[in-house]
Amino acid sequence: MCGIVGYLGSKNAYPIILEGLKRLEYRGYDSAGICLYNGNKLISNKSKGKISKLEKRISKLKTFHGNIGIGHTRWATHGEPNDKNSHPHSSNSNDIHIVHNGIIENYSAVKEELINKGFHFHSETDTEVLVNLIEYIQIKENVKLGEAVQLALNQVIGAYSIAAIDIKKPDEIVVARLGSPLCIGVGKDEYFIGSDATPFLDYTKKAIYLKDGEMAIIRNHKPTQYRKIADDSFTNPTVEKLEIDLAKIQKKGFDHFMLKEIFEQPSAVIDTLRGRLRLKKGIIKMSGIDDFIDKFLSTNKITIVACGTSWHAGLIAEYMFEKIAKISVEVEYASEFRYRNPVIDKSDIVIAISQSGETADTLAAIKLAKKQGAFVYGICNVVGSTISREADAGSYTHAGPEIGVASTKAFITQITILFLIAVKLGKSRGVLSSKQFREYIYELNSIKKKITKVLSSNDKIKKIAAKIKNATNCLYLGRGYNFPVALEGALKLKEISYIHAEGYPAAEMKHGPIALIDKNMPSIIIATNKLYYDKILSNVQEIKSRKGKIIAVVFEGDKEISKIADYTIEVPETIPALTPFVTTIPLQLLSYHIAVKLGRNVDQPRNLAKSVTVE
Ligand code: AGP
Ligand code: GLU
Repeated sequence: MCGIVGYLGSKNAYPIILEGLKRLEYRGYDSAGICLYNGNKLISNKSKGKISKLEKRISKLKTFHGNIGIGHTRWATHGEPNDKNSHPHSSNSNDIHIVHNGIIENYSAVKEELINKGFHFHSETDTEVLVNLIEYIQIKENVKLGEAVQLALNQVIGAYSIAAIDIKKPDEIVVARLGSPLCIGVGKDEYFIGSDATPFLDYTKKAIYLKDGEMAIIRNHKPTQYRKIADDSFTNPTVEKLEIDLAKIQKKGFDHFMLKEIFEQPSAVIDTLRGRLRLKKGIIKMSGIDDFIDKFLSTNKITIVACGTSWHAGLIAEYMFEKIAKISVEVEYASEFRYRNPVIDKSDIVIAISQSGETADTLAAIKLAKKQGAFVYGICNVVGSTISREADAGSYTHAGPEIGVASTKAFITQITILFLIAVKLGKSRGVLSSKQFREYIYELNSIKKKITKVLSSNDKIKKIAAKIKNATNCLYLGRGYNFPVALEGALKLKEISYIHAEGYPAAEMKHGPIALIDKNMPSIIIATNKLYYDKILSNVQEIKSRKGKIIAVVFEGDKEISKIADYTIEVPETIPALTPFVTTIPLQLLSYHIAVKLGRNVDQPRNLAKSVTVE
């Protein structure tokens, strides 16, 4: 995780780096730090906690400026979040300073070697080991920073993106990446560095996305040198034109990004469908599928890999693909898949789902799948992200930037894409009749209205949240398409309110979880499926007779379950495959309001970060 920012040019680097870090705070907020070259020496300031704390600390200084600098916002992997473990880390001589995103896996062996050679360490981080390895090599081989970084990176195992500066070469910044993202903003006689492009959007729309295994030596008034880390060959990366709308990243009057993003879901779905769902022509246009339709028609199996909420979207797709397109689907946690020696070959299709497009496990899973010859389709939100580049083809969800750590609109747009694919393949494979195809796409077209209707229950959901906010455990139950929704509801509650919650297929309740039910344990039951209605009704009664509180999500006009439940949330009726669109949103709102009432940091919950770029 972590966010990296850098600047080299003639402006004051401090405000640029500070504001840049604020835009990257979603990537981690355990600590923040900045190191600048002030024309004379390297000055560094860092602090545990958020960027605002660092800003306050720096505001007390008389001066803190320079034209070159690097900054970091941390999500700790090695060593607890404290001042000492904060980045930038410096070498023993204090000459070299680096910021790092990733993990150096062999850090303890390298550390031991360096200690034997007389180096000492102030922090518990792997990053401090790397900066000292660079220094050791620099002295031993008598080389400049760029070469020392390159040699050091060839000795370490792990994932990284780094930016390094050296007082002996104060007019340059060396950057490199393997497994973690890094891009360079190209201005007029100035350069910007960012884990993504948002830190420098105000200054330039031209960017170079460094490729995995690539490094760059960025110099003042001289052309940047791009090379491969593994050998001495030069590379010639292309400058891309960025089309990111910064206004879309602001909170727009909502108290939290999460709430704003929940309320953006109707328009996010429309953005996802734009140009793809062509009702008048009665077609679904998706070039990533159309261009490779033979592969999709000849495959016998689709494997979906993802993590967290994106994995839940994958589980919903399993129901969609099997029911609508009659294709066998397996859904795997990317972290398990990558180490499981999965049986995958060139007839397989692997779909990777990732909001950020940077999740390390998902990336590793698709690399493995590609190595085994599979065709990889990526579903990502962040344009230009690593997974979107690694995939053979794919679709962007176009949800717009998602800043809240808890994924909401990304999930809804992921299932929008997955539904489109399922219906498109159902038609192409001859499984769906034209009539069924039309029914599906017309219902999809009406989903925006239904989502908007669900959002109008916000006040009611807020009141329900007040009633159950003191629970310490919650059970989420659903069947069929609503089983992954139950998992997602439980995850949302856990991550932002810190209340323990579990999602289960409703029928599994009697195989264990029912033992937990008592008057203090609320159950959130998603009971919209007509097929299983009576069975869920029995579950509701089983809970009620054990004095459990029931919050039921039901279709409008529901009679039976509403009578028994303590609280009901009505959602508009839709077809089974689209129920997750209307049933997930009340659960997002419920978690949001509980977390707010408990005074949690909704957008930046403890211990989490927006994208998990480490294993
Ligand atoms: C979602 O609320 C979580 N913060 C998390 O589970 C997330 O979905 C997961 O880390 C996967 O991220 P990705 O979609 O960016 O790959
Ligand atoms: N491993 C480094 C640390 O713990 C960087 C962490 C990260 O990128 O998440 O500080």
